[in-house]
Amino acid sequence: MTRTLLIVFHSITGGTSQMAGAAATGASRESAVRTRLLHASDARPDDLVAADAYLFATPETLASISGLMKDFFERAYYPALGRIEGRPYAAMICAGSDGQNAARQIARIATGWRLRAVADPLIVCTRAQTPEAILAPKTILPDDLARCADLGETLAAGLAAGVF
Ligand SMILES: Cc1cc2nc3c(=O)[nH]c(=O)nc-3n(C[C@H](O)[C@H](O)[C@H](O)COP(=O)(O)O)c2cc1C
Repeated sequence: MTRTLLIVFHSITGGTSQMAGAAATGASRESAVRTRLLHASDARPDDLVAADAYLFATPETLASISGLMKDFFERAYYPALGRIEGRPYAAMICAGSDGQNAARQIARIATGWRLRAVADPLIVCTRAQTPEAILAPKTILPDDLARCADLGETLAAGLAAGVF
């Protein structure tokens, strides 16, 4: 039976989108696993229930996961509660200079769902300092995209090998 890795992401200035895309590319190296890449606005509780592992990718805004990512978790939390316990997950955060609070929030939500973290949160800081730079489109560096691709591949390979 083909197993599914679901990547749910949101992005405001493009950084997280590039990270999620890189993770999906990395995961696709594992041909035995189906990878679904869904924008947070399009992701539904049934998408969670139908998948076998998760990668949640969000910008950090105002020391939090982004609004649309929170909207996804709020829509999905109770419909999925008790139906996805024990499944593996990881998180990626695109932040200006921090990212820790967004990572903590996802960990709290995942604890409520009884998911299992199979990797440390992957945080990429874009280092923008001024309002103009913060609102400008982002380009994630190749080394960071490679880390995202490796995380996607690790999740997919673990699923394929049945180690999670
Ligand atoms: C309204 C707003 C609030 C932000 N708040 C934070 C923050 O609390 N901590 C942080 O590290 N970065 C913060 N940032 C910077 C973003 O995390 C950063 O620009 C990142 O690239 C956003 O990811 P994205 O390119 O996928 O949208 C904020 C950006 C915006 C637009």
